[in-house]
Amino acid sequence: MKILITGGAGFIGSNFVHHALANHTGWQLAVLDKLTYAGNLENLKDVVDRVTLIHGDIADHEIVRKAVEGVEVIVNFAAESHVDRSILDAAPFIETNVKGTQVLLEAARTIGVKRFVHVSTDEVYGSIERGEFTEESPLQPNSPYAASKAAADLLCRSYHKTYGLPLVITRSSNNYGPYQFPEKLIPLMIYNALQGKPLPVYGRGENARDWLYVEDNCRAIASVVEKGRVGEIYNIGGGAELKNLDLVRQLCRQVAAALGKPAADVEGLITFVKDRPGHDWRYALDHSKMTGELGWTPSVNLQDGLKRTIHWYLENRAWMEHVISGEYQKYVARVYEHGWK
Ligand code: NAD
Ligand code: TYD
Repeated sequence: MKILITGGAGFIGSNFVHHALANHTGWQLAVLDKLTYAGNLENLKDVVDRVTLIHGDIADHEIVRKAVEGVEVIVNFAAESHVDRSILDAAPFIETNVKGTQVLLEAARTIGVKRFVHVSTDEVYGSIERGEFTEESPLQPNSPYAASKAAADLLCRSYHKTYGLPLVITRSSNNYGPYQFPEKLIPLMIYNALQGKPLPVYGRGENARDWLYVEDNCRAIASVVEKGRVGEIYNIGGGAELKNLDLVRQLCRQVAAALGKPAADVEGLITFVKDRPGHDWRYALDHSKMTGELGWTPSVNLQDGLKRTIHWYLENRAWMEHVISGEYQKYVARVYEHGWK
């Protein structure tokens, strides 16, 4: 089965490529990625010989038309994904998340794909004080990022209802794990803790998130590719809810243990900073549909997931330096000049 993975050089997409190659040997993978600051070919360097790589924008009709030739399944990870960046400038979020999704949907419809899996987020539901969002909860996005993802979800729905496109949507909670760009909370805190830099906690650190180890999300998305019911939405929750400050303190203790330092040395780096505008208070997902229909549950608990993640960042300091310093952009430039391999 030939599968096109958009955004496959990013955090979740590259983990999905690794997961698919290890667990779904019958899948032939192609990656379409624009290689923005968040897309990094180093994430795929061990597998370049086993994947067709296409450099391009999902909002570019011509590139997408060529990329979908012969493809049976599309899994759309490509997106601008950081809330803070969307607050600074919403325009790229509309271009990629909304327009890009529509271009992909149109190409998928034209060639008649067997399945289109659209990777969305719990943030489309907005914030919840108590309880958990189900797949039926209304869409009440609060950031430009979340609004652009909600718009994409609705376009997906319309292509299914209007044109019968065989479409499935996944909405997951906050992912963490290897290859995550160090602008999101967990890798940023690990990076700063390793450098002895301040750990910026927004507001009072009382906002809560549900954390999902990326490998668990990849396993869930793979099962949606294989068995998800067309026209359905699946919530993928981690079942690990924590207030940000508690999470950061836990990270500090685990980083300190990994470095053989007293926990207080790392915890002392915590710095409260001005809150994010429109900061969602709490996310929580009911993932009983994934469990009931597809037999999926998260398998990595937060403590183990953080341990693995910290270990990965310690082992991959060069990767971290490259993405932070822009070194990988030079790597990309080399690739543009000499080809993908
Ligand atoms: P990421 O920012 O790490 O990676 C995004 C990838 O998409 C990068 O490789 C980037 O180069 C590529 N890309 C961006 N614009 C593109 C375009 N116009 N054309 C082609 N490629 C483009 O994001 P991520 O964290 O891996 O998220 C992947 C998907 O999962 C996104 O759709 C995001 O909304 C969703 N999601 C993420 C999380 C999370 O916690 N990270 C949680 C729920 C849902
Ligand atoms: P983030 O990783 O950006 O994910 P999202 O906003 O999509 O949930 O942030 C997770 C939480 O951590 C969120 O409540 C904002 C907070 N946060 C900080 O307190 N400090 C930071 O430096 C960052 C990046 C986030």
